[in-house]
Amino acid sequence: MDHFRNPRNVGEIDGADGIGEVGNMKCGDIMKMYLKIDGSETITDVKFKTFGCGAAVATSSMATELIKGRTVADALRLTNAAVVEALEGLPPVKIHCSVLAEQAVKTAVADWYKKRGLTPPPETDIDEHASEHAYDLEHM
Ligand code: FES
Repeated sequence: MDHFRNPRNVGEIDGADGIGEVGNMKCGDIMKMYLKIDGSETITDVKFKTFGCGAAVATSSMATELIKGRTVADALRLTNAAVVEALEGLPPVKIHCSVLAEQAVKTAVADWYKKRGLTPPPETDIDEHASEHAYDLEHM
């Protein structure tokens, strides 16, 4: 609730090193993540914008807190389950919102690789429909 009421790191970063935008076709929510990454591959700043539900705001806020100051490799190990755990749980119907947060981080990291002319590692691959599948399961 705290991360929903007082989300951290909301906004955009001018000249971000990596930007990731993901959405869930079913609920229509969209999440955009901006990363600033230094020469030692540390995420020095991260901001997000979410056009979505309260849980999408809370999960993105928590995800940004978990990866700020960490390395890119650490960020790629972030799972939606870790975000949910850090928030001390989410109602089952909101699990797909946390999937979106994980995907936003990975997509932004992939963009950072591409901007430098590099091929993103397999850990940045996202199942574009994962959050939709999660949404379907929740709404059965
Ligand atoms: Fe779809 Fe939260 S992101 S309802």
